Amino acid sequence: MRDNDEGAALNIGTLNGLFAIPGHLHFEAGEGGLAKVAVNNAYAHCEIYLHGAHITSFGPHDEDEVLWLSKSAQYSDAKAIRGGIPICWPWFGPDPENKGRAQHGFARNSLWTVFGTSVNAKGETLLRLGLQDSEASRKLWPYVFMTEYHITVGKTLHLELKTINEDEKPFALSSALHTYFAVDHTDNVRVEGLEGKNYIDQLRSNVQCMQEGDVIFTGEVDRIYEDDTPCCIVHDGARSIQVAKKGSKSTVIWNPWAEKAAMMGDFDDEGYQHMVCIETANAGFDMRTLKPGESHVLTQSIVLCK
Ligand code: BG6
Repeated sequence: MRDNDEGAALNIGTLNGLFAIPGHLHFEAGEGGLAKVAVNNAYAHCEIYLHGAHITSFGPHDEDEVLWLSKSAQYSDAKAIRGGIPICWPWFGPDPENKGRAQHGFARNSLWTVFGTSVNAKGETLLRLGLQDSEASRKLWPYVFMTEYHITVGKTLHLELKTINEDEKPFALSSALHTYFAVDHTDNVRVEGLEGKNYIDQLRSNVQCMQEGDVIFTGEVDRIYEDDTPCCIVHDGARSIQVAKKGSKSTVIWNPWAEKAAMMGDFDDEGYQHMVCIETANAGFDMRTLKPGESHVLTQSIVLCK
């Protein structure tokens, strides 16, 4: 056993001792030896890496997988996993201050802490993860903060990302639950719920446009919608997925299409035909400012509807 495997095994043993719930969840070594939470209850399965608090798999029993995960995803503590639900935080998109910091912030590349696990009255499994400022985070983003991520796994996957400003100065925050949905084929996908909404097209110098009809995919898409409606629905041939949200007035839709997918080392080349990103966000104009002591909660619920 190599040193780091030994470390991971020890860590996983400790986590299981403290937080495993038989019939609901346990911890194990995932790809690349990274610690992962495996949930399997009466309703569904779900997998969550502590690296990035990154959900890589969810599906109610007897249903196909709901999330898309790249076959060439890389699993290391230096990189975000391609697919699933990365957390973009405390900024969405390129470094807002042009200081050369990583796109989509540092939360997706940070090791999150397990705060607790439990089972609710419905028999759903709850996992509470957290990320606090550290010496490393303050070098990138000079604020004292607490972020809590509550994941509830039932027939619905319910996610709440809470940010608390524990500093003495205000900070600006943008974020997204960057959800990669698995679809049979992009040719058959339409996203309902955004008709008549304004969006900025990130592929055309952020020009403002208005959505006509449902969103369909015939090429690369990278848009931030002004969207305060409570839900949208991804129709994919035989199945539909409802994405409901709170605390968000923006929705990002992204598909890199063939050329950009081929340029990304961690994106399997044909994968773009089998995924669409619908991201519950506080992005673009929907950036939030939190004063000392203030908090903000971004909520997303995913459920299959027939
Ligand atoms: C989307 C952005 O949210 O994420 C795109 O709107 C970006 O512009 C995409 O290309 C993927 O980002 P990354 O950093 O995970 O490759």
